[in-house]
Amino acid sequence: MTGGVSESFVVGSKSFTAVAINTAAKAGEWIKSKLGDINWVDTKFSAQDLVTEVDKGSEKLIRNLILTHFPDHSILGEEGVEPGPEASKKALQAMSDEEYLWIVDPIDGTTNFVHGFPFYSVSIALAHKGEVIVGVVYDPSRDELFVAEKGKGAYRHGKKTEVSAEDTLLRSLIATGFPADRDGALPVNLKGMQAIAPKVRNLRIAGSAALHMAYVATGRLSGFWEIGLNPWDIAAGALLIQESGGRVSDSDGTPYHLGVRNVIATNGHIHDELIQELANAGASRIE
Ligand code: IPD
Ligand code: CA
Ligand code: CA
Repeated sequence: MTGGVSESFVVGSKSFTAVAINTAAKAGEWIKSKLGDINWVDTKFSAQDLVTEVDKGSEKLIRNLILTHFPDHSILGEEGVEPGPEASKKALQAMSDEEYLWIVDPIDGTTNFVHGFPFYSVSIALAHKGEVIVGVVYDPSRDELFVAEKGKGAYRHGKKTEVSAEDTLLRSLIATGFPADRDGALPVNLKGMQAIAPKVRNLRIAGSAALHMAYVATGRLSGFWEIGLNPWDIAAGALLIQESGGRVSDSDGTPYHLGVRNVIATNGHIHDELIQELANAGASRIE
């Protein structure tokens, strides 16, 4: 349990945050135990959009744990939704009125997991009436747990996290991703990379949006952007960054909400500059 946040958001004797932490840690440990022991790998929306029995098993474990504690809550999990951007938008719409909605990515960074590249995570967020109130990202490879509670700050193993201080793109280390939607989001994001790479200190593309966002929260990265993400990639990381003093928005500057798919997530200082450069490059959205 991280320091200073344990008694918040309690229903009866159960803390939402404690359940989120415990669930992410258990799923992460189980995932790690399956490294190198994957029986099947399948593709979803594109040849690069992978799913394994470990993604499915992790989501099942997470659902069971959450529903044991909170049987009335709803869960939006990646593996419970048909692949592709349209299905994911519909799934969120169908659930956005739920009072308590858990938003789950059972493995963020499946390609890395399949290859044994140690940069993947479990991402669990809880939204109350559409607003994220708890966010947990767990990196089993490093046993690093990042946790945020709305209005109470964000922590990494009990120590408050803070975004970095860089105030120009030129001094910034920025991350992005290669979206799985090869025809829609990928070409737009590639255009963005071409425009941003010469303007920043450097770019990193390591393959887990949630973990990249946790790194923005801890100041290891100055910012992150990606076109065409899903709610489960972003929700927990967004709260981590906001509670660490940073800013998260849509690529048009609209403040973060669950429907954001083109995410800009930064230390705040470089936010407008990053939005502007992506807009200048025509790389803010899928037309
Ligand atoms: C993917 C990762 C990756 C990002 C892709 C996501 P998944 O999630 O976050 O970094 O570039 O857009 O789809 O499929 O590994 O859960
Ligand atoms: Ca993901
Ligand atoms: Ca996933």
